[in-house]
Amino acid sequence: MSAVPNSPRIPAPVWVKNPKLIAWVSEIAALTKPDNVYWCDGSQEEYDRLCAQMVAQGTMKKLNSAKRPNSFLALSDPSDVARVEDRTFICSEKKEDAGPTNNWMEPAEMRTTLHDLFDGCMRGRTLYVVPFSMGPLGSHISQIGIELSDSPYVAVNMRIMTRMGKAVYDVLGAHGEFVPCVHSVGKPLAAGEKDVAWPCNATKYIVHYPETREIWSFGSGYGGNALLGKKCFSLRIASTMGRDQGWLAEHMLILGVENPQGKKHYVAAAFPSACGKTNFAMLIPPKGFEGWKVTTIGDDIAWIKPGPDGRLYAINPEAGYFGVAPGTSEKTNFNAMATLKENVIFTNVALADDGDIWWEGMTKEVPAHLTDWQGKDWTPEIGKETGRKAAHPNARFTAAASQCPSVDPAWQNPAGVPISAFIFGGRRSTTVPLVTEARSWTEGVYMAATMGSETTAAQAGATGIVRRDPFAMLPFCGYNMSDYFAHWLNIGRRIETSGQKLPGIFCVNWFRTDADGKFVWPGFGENMRVLKWMLDRIEGQAGGVEHIFGVTPRYEDLSWNGSDFSQADFDKITSIEAAAWKKELELHAELFKQLEYHLPAELGMVKSQLEKRLAA
Ligand code: GTP
Ligand code: SPV
Ligand code: MN
Repeated sequence: MSAVPNSPRIPAPVWVKNPKLIAWVSEIAALTKPDNVYWCDGSQEEYDRLCAQMVAQGTMKKLNSAKRPNSFLALSDPSDVARVEDRTFICSEKKEDAGPTNNWMEPAEMRTTLHDLFDGCMRGRTLYVVPFSMGPLGSHISQIGIELSDSPYVAVNMRIMTRMGKAVYDVLGAHGEFVPCVHSVGKPLAAGEKDVAWPCNATKYIVHYPETREIWSFGSGYGGNALLGKKCFSLRIASTMGRDQGWLAEHMLILGVENPQGKKHYVAAAFPSACGKTNFAMLIPPKGFEGWKVTTIGDDIAWIKPGPDGRLYAINPEAGYFGVAPGTSEKTNFNAMATLKENVIFTNVALADDGDIWWEGMTKEVPAHLTDWQGKDWTPEIGKETGRKAAHPNARFTAAASQCPSVDPAWQNPAGVPISAFIFGGRRSTTVPLVTEARSWTEGVYMAATMGSETTAAQAGATGIVRRDPFAMLPFCGYNMSDYFAHWLNIGRRIETSGQKLPGIFCVNWFRTDADGKFVWPGFGENMRVLKWMLDRIEGQAGGVEHIFGVTPRYEDLSWNGSDFSQADFDKITSIEAAAWKKELELHAELFKQLEYHLPAELGMVKSQLEKRLAA
């Protein structure tokens, strides 16, 4: 990871005792040439100071303290609003180890490219040294990272999203290991040049070296491009750690569900970006489900490891939520709204005239006047005329998990929670039924591997396009996707060998639409009905019918207590049309062709059985 060898040691605080770390910071500083190096301690005082500094600089606005205490709004550059998948690279030594679903460049070539880009890229800025732990500090499952960033916005967001601060250095000690993460917005300042509110660069690189476990990010200050503990570390790098060490790093929420008799299960669910993880993780059971309780372990990422008993245990490596704002309301996600009462950083939502925030779907009444996410005047009329949204569709909130009313008492337990079921769900307006149970682990892996979903605003590019998103990991798997499927099959075999019951695998779709393009299924809290069916299936207490690719409930197999959802509507979202599935299978075939190299033979076998049943 040498950047500028033999660069002069920069001074470090006494609490930093790791010579390798100090040498690395010195090298990166020598390369990027910031005006200052600042070592973050993670204190409240530091957080307040950095926020005040960003308010003075114009990067953030302080919101009305009476309405939204200690909260801020940041508006990004209009070109820097989402993850950039086409600029994201897995630079393994061998191209086939990155696989056909990842962008790849030879590590040496990438290092040369990045060296030139990073040379002097922090001029006029401060380099923040951000120490963080993914997972509870000091736990055997946790991993330490150090992010060097020229963005104070990154430093304060990392304090909410991870365990960030001085205590990380105590765990790291003199010889501990860490994942080095280098981040620059890529906008050096000339002497006397005035900074802009949201510096960034049209050239962007989000680069991972899985063999040396390094992350380099250039040109963006937004979300997963810049908060490197999240997708870059906890998924792309961690998935390769998991492959090598026998565990899983997944794009999954983790929730607990307790029935009125006090029996509790934990499930983990993978939905692609902006497809409902945060909402499902904080679900409030609907009318008719009195006595049921859903609790939140995590809303985006799960690290899952076999325990000593052979069962799978999951932890949430994060400490906060970087959640989609639009669509979030007291009705759809009461727990999220309660989490957002104070100490929040909002990004790209609209500013209300009273100094509070607003986004599409937050309240039924649309305010008469707002300042939109680009800082422009916005009224419902302007919105209608121009089609401009008040909040960007990928506007987000950053809030501490500890503020969430539904947070599970075990959410920081380093042993993790035992997983009873895995759920996979895409956003599909057609074809895919409300819920399907896989009849075996292999069939479940097939379902997850072939999952399709319509693209959302969470990634730059067109939205609403159906693409294959295996395991909701298409943009996040740090190695060859076929090897990843094989890894999942191996994990299943290991559980079986240990004599433990395999977790159930289910596939859901909340997003079927009617002829007018409206969602038929009410979703949100109502998803509890589907969740209950899945748990009942695990306990052998619910009916269902087998069809071409799994088991689905009949209308009478779900609990409709407190609901007026009709059989006719149920039929609309559970119908399986042979013609649509023929087309769907063509897309599976296309995917398997793309993933031919190392594709496990078992998946091909599931596919031929499916085709046979479909033809019959
Ligand atoms: P990332 O943070 O990008 O990984 O997204 P996520 O998977 O956590 O998605 P989130 O829960 O934030 O939901 C994204 C959008 O989908 C929001 O606008 C939600 O209001 C909407 N949504 C979530 N659950 C449902 C549902 O059950 N039905 C419908 N119709 N919309 C939903
Ligand atoms: C996602 O896109 O899946 C997110 C948001 O959770 S980001 O942190 O930008 O990756
Ligand atoms: Mn996500």
